[in-house]
Amino acid sequence: MLALNDFSFEFAGRYLYRKATWHIKPNEKIGLVGLNGTGKSTLLRLISGEYELREGSLSKANNMKLGYLNQDLLSVVYDESVRDVVLSGREDLVQIDQEIHRLLEEIEVNYDDKRLNRLSELQEQFGHLGGYDWQSQGDKILEGLGFPTEWLTRPLKELSGGWRMRALLGKLLLMAPDLLLLDEPTNHLDLPTIEWLENYLVEYQGTYVIVSHDKYFLDKTVNRIAEVAHQQLFHYKGNFTQFLEQKEERDALLERQFANQQDYIRQQMRFIQRFRSKASKATAVQSRVKQLEKLDRIELKDNENREFDIKFNIRIKPGKVVTDILEVSKSYGDMSILRNGSAQVLRGDKIALIGANGKGKSTLLRMIAGSEPYDGKIDLGWNVETAFFAQHQLESLNLKSDLLNEIGTVSAEYTEKDLRTVLGCFLFTGEEVFKKVKVLSGGEKSRLALAKTLITQSNFLLLDEPTNHLDMFSAAVLAESLDNYEGSLLFVSHDRTFISRVANKIWWIENGQLREYPGTYDEYNEWIATRPAAPVVVEEKPKAVVESKSAVTSVKTGVSKNQIQRWETQMKELQEKIDQFDLRRTQLEESMVSPEVVSKSDELLILTAEHVKLLSETSKLQKEYDDILEQWMENHE
Ligand SMILES: Nc1ncnc2c1ncn2[C@@H]1O[C@H](COP(=O)(O)OP(=O)(O)OP(=O)(O)O)[C@@H](O)[C@H]1O
Ligand SMILES: [Mg+2]
Repeated sequence: MLALNDFSFEFAGRYLYRKATWHIKPNEKIGLVGLNGTGKSTLLRLISGEYELREGSLSKANNMKLGYLNQDLLSVVYDESVRDVVLSGREDLVQIDQEIHRLLEEIEVNYDDKRLNRLSELQEQFGHLGGYDWQSQGDKILEGLGFPTEWLTRPLKELSGGWRMRALLGKLLLMAPDLLLLDEPTNHLDLPTIEWLENYLVEYQGTYVIVSHDKYFLDKTVNRIAEVAHQQLFHYKGNFTQFLEQKEERDALLERQFANQQDYIRQQMRFIQRFRSKASKATAVQSRVKQLEKLDRIELKDNENREFDIKFNIRIKPGKVVTDILEVSKSYGDMSILRNGSAQVLRGDKIALIGANGKGKSTLLRMIAGSEPYDGKIDLGWNVETAFFAQHQLESLNLKSDLLNEIGTVSAEYTEKDLRTVLGCFLFTGEEVFKKVKVLSGGEKSRLALAKTLITQSNFLLLDEPTNHLDMFSAAVLAESLDNYEGSLLFVSHDRTFISRVANKIWWIENGQLREYPGTYDEYNEWIATRPAAPVVVEEKPKAVVESKSAVTSVKTGVSKNQIQRWETQMKELQEKIDQFDLRRTQLEESMVSPEVVSKSDELLILTAEHVKLLSETSKLQKEYDDILEQWMENHE
């Protein structure tokens, strides 16, 4: 239903895609994954027509209805009510509905057959298009997305970014387009809503592409993965876990291929070094040099293996009790969040505050940070310095400044070198530090805002959904640094991997009380459950070759003519084999980068495996050849 062929796309000379290919077939449920900043959002914008393709082609099925949920919704302003926005997902029904109402009003004053006929025609059409369950369907979606009833009539523009996004998601779900494109839909959802969406999508009759970094979510909702990496799209069958397994296998193969090629190159270099001064061997040496030049060098990607040890210091050590929450109450209108809730944060606590949205998790963080009124007492302990991170930090980044200037606003204490190191820890390297905030991807903006929070050297961090927008790699980097962080931590998160990695205590709000489980997330889950109510075989390095070498070199001078001839025949035969192998290898290398193969992961795996084998065989033969050649050179006039 949609085909992108040989397309390339760049921003100011930096290619996100180079001759990539993607064919989306009906009923495919695809997860679009890749590290932050690889170009996933950009790709959805290309498909939805927001960006124009400069190279390659994009073809879509005729009359295909497309629905697109943008990752960045800061600029969305709607005067309509939440419910009307969702219902407008069925523009066709909205129009018929309006016409029916108009006709009914007219008929009251002006009753005639023409109008009556038109009315019954419209009503039939309305029913035919599913008009009679349209509103109840809309309401079901709104309920599933967690909207309190009293919010449905509020203008959308009054709601926070997260809730605006939910309403737009609801609109798309109701629209049920032929191709649904969702860019990180779970970023602003709490666990119960994520689970609701998972189930909704499982039942969904249609094709969709979901960009997400949430492993659990993708595992439930997709049956194919498209991965953006190395300016290409790689396609896999299966869910996210299966993708990770296949990818691991491919990476292992690639590493072996790389090691083999390095071996081969070293061997050739040794030969060249050794004989380059012998005039009689000039041709042999020259041909090796050429071969080396021709070689398509394998590169191991480095950005996926980047590792940084983030250590952020605290300025002063706080007292034992970091925060004392004493009989605190809070409500919004008649919605009560806490009723005389109490709890304590102790030094060294890494607390995850979990549970459904609307229970007031973010509110509690803001109360502790002092930016939200409440009844009761919250005492910060001795020497406690807090730093706060939330989604609105992304909104308050200065879009016009570059990364280095933006992070420099935290404190004048840091030198440019310090700041660059911090940015490096948050995976911005080299020239990237001069990138404008305006062009950053969702994950990049989050990383920058997190970096700003963490260099404040505070000893108590309050983080509201810090892993939203982060890819698995960045989230792992963050988890590790928080693990090693000396201060205390209270964070709200719905990222199950992250919570179980970071938290040593779990908090939740139940019946207006703050509850605590003094253990990790996995232990907590166990407790909740019982609470009443093919690795690649690595070939050994060929030993035989090494042994035969010592046997051959032990031959003394005074070799017979026959021996010399035998060597020559052997070398000829070996050379033929090597040439054959080289030819096959070149063919393989060509097909391995061809779009048809690149887009099929299983085929690529087979070719890569053959390539690994060929490289190691060639290397073996070459060594054999060189050993004989060495003998021949020493004994031949
Ligand atoms: N107008 C622009 N000019 C220059 N670079 C841009 C522009 N828009 C985006 N970029 C860069 O292109 C890269 C890809 O951006 P994109 O938003 O598509 O990434 P993404 O894969 O969606 O990442 P994330 O997972 O963080 O959302 C980023 O490094 C971003 O900074
Ligand atoms: Mg994105």
